[in-house]
Amino acid sequence: MNLKTLSFSVLIFLLGIVKSTAQEVPLHKKTAVGDRIVEFIPKGFDKNKTPSLILAAEVSSKGKIPADWSLIPEFTVKNNKASAVLKLEGDVSLYGGGEVTGPLLRNGQSIKLWNTDTGAYSVEGGKRLYQTHPWVMGVRKDGSAFGILFDSTWKAELITNSDQIMYNSEGALFRVYIIDRKSPQEVLKGLSELTGTIKLPARWTLGYHQCRFSYDSEKRVMEIADTFREKKIPCDVIWMDIDYMQGYRVFTFDSIRFANPKVLNDNLHKKGFKAVYMIDPGVKVDKDYSVYQSGTQNDVWVMKNDGEEYHGKVWPGDCVFPDFTDPKSRKWWSGLYKDYLSTGIDGVWNDMNEPAVNDNELPEDKRLGTMPYDTPHKGGGNLPKGSHLLYHNAYGRLMVEASYEGILKANPTKRPFLLTRSNLLGGQRFAATWTGDNYAGMDHLKLSVPMSITLGLSGQPFSGPDIGGFLGDTSGDLWANWLGFGAFMPFSRGHACAGTNDKEPWAYGPEIEKTSRIALERRYRLLPYLYTLFYESSKTGMQVMAPVFFADSKDLRLRAEEQAFLLGENLLVVPAFAKDPILPSGIWEELNLVEGDKQDKYQAKLSIKGGSIIPAGKIIQNAGENSFDPLSLFVCLDAKGTAKGELYIDAGDGFGFEKGDYAMLTFTAEKKNDTVLVTVSDIEGKRNISNEVTKINVHLLLDGKTYEGTGTLNGITITVK
Ligand code: GLC
Repeated sequence: MNLKTLSFSVLIFLLGIVKSTAQEVPLHKKTAVGDRIVEFIPKGFDKNKTPSLILAAEVSSKGKIPADWSLIPEFTVKNNKASAVLKLEGDVSLYGGGEVTGPLLRNGQSIKLWNTDTGAYSVEGGKRLYQTHPWVMGVRKDGSAFGILFDSTWKAELITNSDQIMYNSEGALFRVYIIDRKSPQEVLKGLSELTGTIKLPARWTLGYHQCRFSYDSEKRVMEIADTFREKKIPCDVIWMDIDYMQGYRVFTFDSIRFANPKVLNDNLHKKGFKAVYMIDPGVKVDKDYSVYQSGTQNDVWVMKNDGEEYHGKVWPGDCVFPDFTDPKSRKWWSGLYKDYLSTGIDGVWNDMNEPAVNDNELPEDKRLGTMPYDTPHKGGGNLPKGSHLLYHNAYGRLMVEASYEGILKANPTKRPFLLTRSNLLGGQRFAATWTGDNYAGMDHLKLSVPMSITLGLSGQPFSGPDIGGFLGDTSGDLWANWLGFGAFMPFSRGHACAGTNDKEPWAYGPEIEKTSRIALERRYRLLPYLYTLFYESSKTGMQVMAPVFFADSKDLRLRAEEQAFLLGENLLVVPAFAKDPILPSGIWEELNLVEGDKQDKYQAKLSIKGGSIIPAGKIIQNAGENSFDPLSLFVCLDAKGTAKGELYIDAGDGFGFEKGDYAMLTFTAEKKNDTVLVTVSDIEGKRNISNEVTKINVHLLLDGKTYEGTGTLNGITITVK
């Protein structure tokens, strides 16, 4: 090597060092955009490179940054890839990150944000799942809390170490939002101020759902529905998985096995069931198929850089994919729902929308499981043209926005119900979710609790696992254990993969059938409470299923508890599997709702918090039946001898509640000497409920005993002796 080439090599080497070192990026601007919410914009941020698909609306300046504000993110760029880090001070318990495996407490964890079809959560050791929530919440020792949102959809990694939170993206600079408030509950409210809340779901969506891949004929669907009613096991919804379609063509029905969807749906409705059907994003490449023809005519598909259609394999073989970044494609997709839903379909299940592509024919190191990263997306409206690397994590979120619009337009007087596998923080505005393809094992049963809690701590309160486990055969013991607490998860659905054993509540013999009936009767008795929680959540972003430490965020013992959980703030659920759970202190009274629930070893133990009143209904077989003759109130007094609770009532579906057709009742209880007086202290809303709630049974739980009283909305007095 001569001197010239040597110095050239040194230069290249030095350039390499400079290039691979992270460059600090100064802050361009920090602005208060809400009550103790601050936006941080790095210098060089360009929303044409990193558009926001997370925020519900563009933010604006509101007030001043509080004088005591201490949380400032630091931005860097390395090889054109932007990162941000937030240094932490003192002991902080970390939560969030959306859909994650592993512990509830996220200190010392890392996840990949790249939406992936991950059967049995097997991809990258469970660090990469179906959804993206670039969000972490920290809870300090004193119970105050903060949250950090990285407003980016680029492929990324989220690292939550005890001394810092780090977000490393593979794309351009992004904005960061930090919320710093007095409690984790207040921080979650702040998150919903930025990203929106769920919409109030129809009451039937809170019932039990029965699914299988697949109930593959109209006859089989009705057999399942009839068996629920014959055996008096409460259920609201039967699900149609992909086999109802004609050769897996979305928006079609198999001409033999599902020849009369309207008749099927009518028959289900007559028996008090709703019907949910699956729609995937992949559209079969088939010149004789109307959806492929119309999509092609309207130029809605994702096209490759060479201008040809992108094709990827899904269930029907080669498929095209709508480019949901393009408003024209979203509008076209929305329009497909009208005729489809006119068959009486009540809800839609959007699956495989990471989007998942089967490229197993490629050598292992070439497989992406989705479209190539450089595949272009057209954008339009507020969205710039961009690569799949930018838009992949938003694909499911944009799909469910289009689906939601289409469902609402097709049935404007009903609340859309949409379930999605893939989503992005903020996408809770359009769809509920479930935690994908788990398997039938005790470890995934246990994992399902922190997974759903964490989704709730990341803006998505409407979630649940495949109860019983999707992959693999399920034993009666596993099923009963899972349903024993799964009956109290926000979204409660049993599901099973093709080729596995039958997984309906009666499939495991009479003993487990009895256990299943009790578990679901307990859920149905609690529907009034659950519906009230969902109403609250739709207003404020509050959790439905909450971590136990929400009972007292200053009690450090509770920070890692992930076997037990809270429903709302007042009901503690301890699953039967829980071993030495760490429970909140204070007054808690055991709640038994159904004959035999206390003796059944599979049922979760329920307790009510001192100071609260939990409304409950009768045992009903579906959410459409009258729950309130009588209404039950379970009362547990605090140390001062008082208690309080709420009950939200409306038509159960439709939008009348937005115009005041609802009643929010506040109940109060007070003990004076040997009597406890329970009254309705307030009714908000215009709904006349005097015919709906005619009789009230009060069950006062005090020192392990129950005292009963009966009355009306005018008040009930109970004697305690
Ligand atoms: C995916 C879904 C699963 C569904 C199956 C067939 O694996 O996650 O729930 O049953 O596809 O549609």
